[in-house]
Amino acid sequence: MRTQVAIVGAGPAGMFLAHLLHAAGLDCVVLERRDRAFVEGRVRAGVLEPITVDLMRELGLAEGLERGGLAHDGVNIATGGELLRIDLASLVGVGLTVYGQQEVMRDLFDGAVARGIHIVWEADDVVLEGLDGAEPFVTWRHGQTGHRLDCDFVAGCDGFHGVSRSSIPAQDLRTYERVYPFGWLGILADVPPCNDELVYANHERGFALASMRSETRSRYYVQVALDEQVDDWPDERFWDELCLRLGPQTAAKLTRGPSFEKSIAPLRSFVAEPMRWGRLFLAGDAAHIVPPTGAKGMNLAVSDVIMLADGLIEHYRANKDHGLETYSKRALARVWKAERFSWWLTSITHRFPDADPFSQQMQLAELDYLRSSEAAQRSFAENYVGLPMARPGRRAKASAAAPEGAVRGTSQSIGKKLERTCAGAAPGEGKAT
Ligand code: FAD
Ligand code: DHB
Repeated sequence: MRTQVAIVGAGPAGMFLAHLLHAAGLDCVVLERRDRAFVEGRVRAGVLEPITVDLMRELGLAEGLERGGLAHDGVNIATGGELLRIDLASLVGVGLTVYGQQEVMRDLFDGAVARGIHIVWEADDVVLEGLDGAEPFVTWRHGQTGHRLDCDFVAGCDGFHGVSRSSIPAQDLRTYERVYPFGWLGILADVPPCNDELVYANHERGFALASMRSETRSRYYVQVALDEQVDDWPDERFWDELCLRLGPQTAAKLTRGPSFEKSIAPLRSFVAEPMRWGRLFLAGDAAHIVPPTGAKGMNLAVSDVIMLADGLIEHYRANKDHGLETYSKRALARVWKAERFSWWLTSITHRFPDADPFSQQMQLAELDYLRSSEAAQRSFAENYVGLPMARPGRRAKASAAAPEGAVRGTSQSIGKKLERTCAGAAPGEGKAT
């Protein structure tokens, strides 16, 4: 079998890339280790930056999003018994959209089936070969049968534990890592959300987050120690702890109910440089991990593959490699700023077991500064909704402050349901160029 771009991994990075390439008339094959139900069933992200929303519209994949996405103009931080609201829309002109990664994956897979994008499910023992030459290829096994895919480029979109990053010789890769001394215990429950916007809580007992998936489904998290297990947390204990940490004002509006998903995720910051080695390009969690506090992981996967797709399209259409040659540098410039924001937000909202009194005072001072300074809130808002992205050859769409060629998402979010508010492209409209 032969294709132009072999994509390893059918998570958000791999599937958005496949759609972008397909829309531009390029040929690709996606190789995924698991089956569709497994990938679609993984409960993960829930917050989409305007860049991600705009891409779903541009690709004609936003029908579910227009129907089920919740537009949020603000976000709240509960600290010292008070709720600090950061008005994203008035500070930076855009908000965020709450729409689950499971729904995003369903829309990407449904779209792939409808468009004939080739996905190989349950591809075992994927091996990348010839990456430093002109004729790379990928091999894998399906059941007892071995397969080979020849290609021009390989996109490593196979997440943190994938095979792509480890195919780069260790001496050519520099990694940076911070592992945090706690995790997030998250639940899903079919109860109405306790607040119509997200609440991030800094409490002496630890961090908590109130999020949602719809007007009838809530997503909640509490910070837990690394040695804690899901079984240590029956629902009643979870609800009691969550209410304490969110504070009385928010807890008074909280509805309890049985959880139907409960899991613990460790927190990590990680970056691998460069994001290109020969004909292999890394994107998404394969190259970098952020702690979930800033809701950046999936959105970074999206901005990576937008830049990568631009480079690949330029290669095939214009026979130029500037975009591919600068991909790693441009992607990393955005990645490091998201790493900074996620690390900072984690550091000011969580309890660190080894924090000394000085560190605790610094946390309080950070939160007090955020409460009292519009400049600090604007900086928070600018990062939380996602920094603009450098796309050479593209005209800037929105932000006056954005650098030449930078594109900020343009989604409007005035009110709750996207379908009532958005003047953007109708579902199915628009095509990637
Ligand atoms: P993945 O989603 O990990 O996809 C990689 C794919 O590659 C997988 O399907 C995997 O099965 C496949 N694969 C792996 N190895 C191989 C192999 N050897 N061969 C073939 N296939 C392979 N992000 C946000 O933006 N907003 C949020 O609100 C948010 N909240 C989060 C909350 C939690 C609790 C967690 C855990 C994460 C959260 N994230 C959030 C992060 C987000 O889920 C990830 O950053 C995102 O899934 C990364 O996408 P990806 O495609 O790069 O990697
Ligand atoms: C969600 C996850 C996050 O990491 C975050 O910062 C906000 C919301 C969520 O799952 O809804």
